[in-house]
Amino acid sequence: MTTTYEHIPVMRDRVIELLAPALEADDALLVDGTLGLGGHTEAFLEAFPSLRVLGIDRDREAIDQASARLERFGNRFVSFHGRYDQLGEAVDSLGDGRDVQGVLLDLGVSSLHLDKAERGFSYVQDAPLDMRMNSEDETTAHEILATYSLDQLADLFRNLGDEKLAGRYARAIVSHRETQPFGTTGELVEVLQEATPYALKDRGHPAKRVFQALRMEVNNELGSLEAVLPVALQRIALGGRLVVMSYHSGEDRLVKKVLRTHTSSSAPLGLPEELPEHRSEFRDITRGAEMATPEERDANPRSASVRTRGVERTRKATR
Ligand SMILES: C[S@@+](CC[C@H](N)C(=O)[O-])C[C@H]1O[C@@H](n2cnc3c(N)ncnc32)[C@H](O)[C@@H]1O
Repeated sequence: MTTTYEHIPVMRDRVIELLAPALEADDALLVDGTLGLGGHTEAFLEAFPSLRVLGIDRDREAIDQASARLERFGNRFVSFHGRYDQLGEAVDSLGDGRDVQGVLLDLGVSSLHLDKAERGFSYVQDAPLDMRMNSEDETTAHEILATYSLDQLADLFRNLGDEKLAGRYARAIVSHRETQPFGTTGELVEVLQEATPYALKDRGHPAKRVFQALRMEVNNELGSLEAVLPVALQRIALGGRLVVMSYHSGEDRLVKKVLRTHTSSSAPLGLPEELPEHRSEFRDITRGAEMATPEERDANPRSASVRTRGVERTRKATR
């Protein structure tokens, strides 16, 4: 069976433009920490004929599908099955003890997850409450719904889902599970629909934010992002670049905060002159967070929430 890949990766051309100055060298290595179906990686391998890409994904199915898609690039593409916060280990597995010229993180789920009903990511199809990106992980959405307290559920929906009805939905879930355990995504959707006041029925699908929060919790997405940023920045060579694409306000806040500390001087306040060792090691290559163009947003609804930030290494301190 041949697979066709009709999705154009989010902000493809702009992401290439942002990383390009770092990838011109003959032996350049790009780490695509969120390989997915390999759309961005394919575009990079086509644009830079001597580039090598190390593609990381925690989802085995994504690795398999992307590897088949990228087979024609031979050993210019290497995959690593694991979390992107294992970036150091993944780069070391190449065996040449090197730094990297580029790192790309295109966070969140891929169409592979949403289109496969049985994985439980989608609220429009009935399926087991799973939502694990790596099916070898232990925690599922079902377990969270069965074991989290009322307060934990409400905090989760509020913090990771920006859900205004967080408390109300948490109460509905706890009261439902007292009579019967949750079976499928469809049952959860029904409980959320019943708990939504009539006046708010037209504010979008009631399950959207709850599903997002559950997915982010099941996969510890913010934890993994917090862990990868310092590792990625540390492994980037002089002149190398990092680009992160977030689709959630909490993710973008975290990226902004971490990047800001690396692009700011570490000179103590009141020092008359900045010493060389206090100079920042990175500079911004985006002005704040960049968004997709209106044309792209019209053509691809997933791009509507993207926030893209990037930095370049301008100094490598000797430690
Ligand atoms: C938005 S998709 C990437 C799409 C890709 N850029 C493309 O063009 O096809 C995000 C991918 O990152 C993976 N992912 C999410 N969190 C991850 C993590 N912590 N470690 C490794 N992979 C992760 C998901 O499994 C998914 O395949």
